[in-house]
Parts: sequence; C-alpha cells; structure tokens
Amino acid sequence: MKEERNTVRVFAPATSANFICGYDVLGVALHEPGDEVILKRSEKSGVVITKIIGDNGLLPYNTDLNTVGACIKMIINHLQLTDFGVEIELHKKMPVGSGLGSSAASTIAGLFAINQLLGEPLTKQELLPFALKGEELACGHGHADNVAPSLLGGITLIRSYNPLEVINLPVPSELCCSVIFPHVEVPTRAARQILRTKVELRNAVSQWGNIAGLITGLFTEDYDLISRSLVDNLIEPTRSILIPEFDEMRKIALDLGALGFGISGSGPSVVAFTKGIKKTEEITKSIQDHLEIKNIGSNGYSSSINQEGAKLLS
Ligand code: HSE
Repeated sequence: MKEERNTVRVFAPATSANFICGYDVLGVALHEPGDEVILKRSEKSGVVITKIIGDNGLLPYNTDLNTVGACIKMIINHLQLTDFGVEIELHKKMPVGSGLGSSAASTIAGLFAINQLLGEPLTKQELLPFALKGEELACGHGHADNVAPSLLGGITLIRSYNPLEVINLPVPSELCCSVIFPHVEVPTRAARQILRTKVELRNAVSQWGNIAGLITGLFTEDYDLISRSLVDNLIEPTRSILIPEFDEMRKIALDLGALGFGISGSGPSVVAFTKGIKKTEEITKSIQDHLEIKNIGSNGYSSSINQEGAKLLS
C-alpha cells in the first residue's frame, strides 16, 4: 500500500458508451470533458458533501442519494473504517444527462479519490463493482460501459457482467472521435425504458457480426473494417427519434469522411468515430454549425482516445 493522504484532487474523464454497435459492452474514454472530486479528511467521523459546483442545482447533497457520496461510503464500510471522516467537493465540469457518462465520471472520480486518500488499498479492477452500484443509483441500472473506460482509460469491453469481467482493447493510433451534445434532454433512465426487450434474430446476427468485426479491426488497425462494423441495428432505430437532426448530423459526419456515426451512450449526444484529429475537428464544427442554424445549442468535443482514465491531480 502507498502512503495515506489528508487531501486529494482527482479527475475522471467523460466517456462514450456503446461504441455504436456494442450496447452495454463497449465504451471509450475521452480527454475532455470530465469531473473533479476533492476529498479532505475531517476530524468528525462521517461522509459529508460540502460543495457541488456546475450541476445547476440538479444533484443531491444527501450522501445516500448522491452517487459520489454513496460510493465513498461503500468503500469506507467495505474496509471497515470506523470513525473515519471525509468532506467531499464535486466539481461537475460536464453536462448532466448528456450521453457522455456524466454520472459515471462523478462516481469514478469519487471512488478513485477515496482509494488515493487511503493509500490505494484496492486495485482499479476492485473498484469497479462499487462503480456499478453507483450507476444503479444514478440511472436505475448498473451498466459498466461508462465507468470502466472512465476508470481504466482506452477502449473497454465488458465480456461478462456476472461475474464482472472487463478487458482493455487495443487503441488504433489515429482513432479519434467527435462528440456533440445537442441541448435537449434525454435521461438515461428514460432512454433505457423505451427499448424493446426482445430482438429479431436476424438483427442480433448482424449486431454480433459487427461487434466481432469492430474488435478485429481494433486489433489489426484496419480502419476500413472498423468503419464497416460501426452499424447499430438494435438500439439506434428506437433511440434516434429522441434526437433532433439525427439523420442530418449523420450525413454531415459521413460526407466529411467519418468512419461511423451514432448515438453516444443513451444520447442525446452523438458521436462520429474518425481517423486523425484534423478531420475530427472539422466534423465537430460542421455539426455544431448545422445545429446552430436550427436554433439548437450544443457543446462539441474533438478528442483522441484517452488511454489514462482517472488520474490524480494533486
Ligand atoms: N449502455 C448504456 C445505454 C450507456 O446505452 O443505456 C448509458 O450511457
């Protein structure tokens, strides 16, 4: 174990879950945006949230309801630290309910921070089951395709949920993504509830063909194969109707040479996967310009894949 600290400040990145065809099993980490958590040990025992900034008043201070507070309490209980006291500051530096893994970034920042404060008693992999409980609290379902890449960085595959098995996949050197958050509201909970629970066999066949093709393409750096595989026949047809200008944004991205385009996580953010950062920036700008003409505000991010994940800032 490393040395314990009195205070830590950490960053956990936003993520784009699903990687188009891998609903609930694939996710990628972005460089920005992301959340910061500051933890300070206190004399008084118990976990208290003292400050939440950047959430427009949306997030609870109650540590049983706030995913950061709840996850930190789980770690303290798990390690049986009686009389332990800590104060939490959460700096939300990304939009809530955006499809960028906002709750996951907060959860991971909290878990990573408490583990650092305590001198890393747990490995990153050991933190993941706690993160799933945090996602369950925040969105009603414990999916791992945002928390895993936010914590571990890179591209992650959830090979199995029970038992949890998470695998880091290779990241092709020029792979980038353009993520645009149109300012409309699509909560993850609602975007999961509208999905059909049964799928057509022929759609399932094409989906698992695409997932296997995508993963082969990542291993072989075959951008054409990656591009052909970035198709979602299962989820996108239902969810895309919640996202204004979805087809138009796809056309802009593909006309400008994107490898593939789809919904980022549960939306409303959209993502274009690309080769090279220059093309990525061009796509982000063109989509944002289009949304502006349609009077829809947006945030845009152009990023290579973040291979580091959560990190200690001080
Ligand atoms: N895989 C999850 C979903 C990610 O698509 O609902 C949520 O960000």
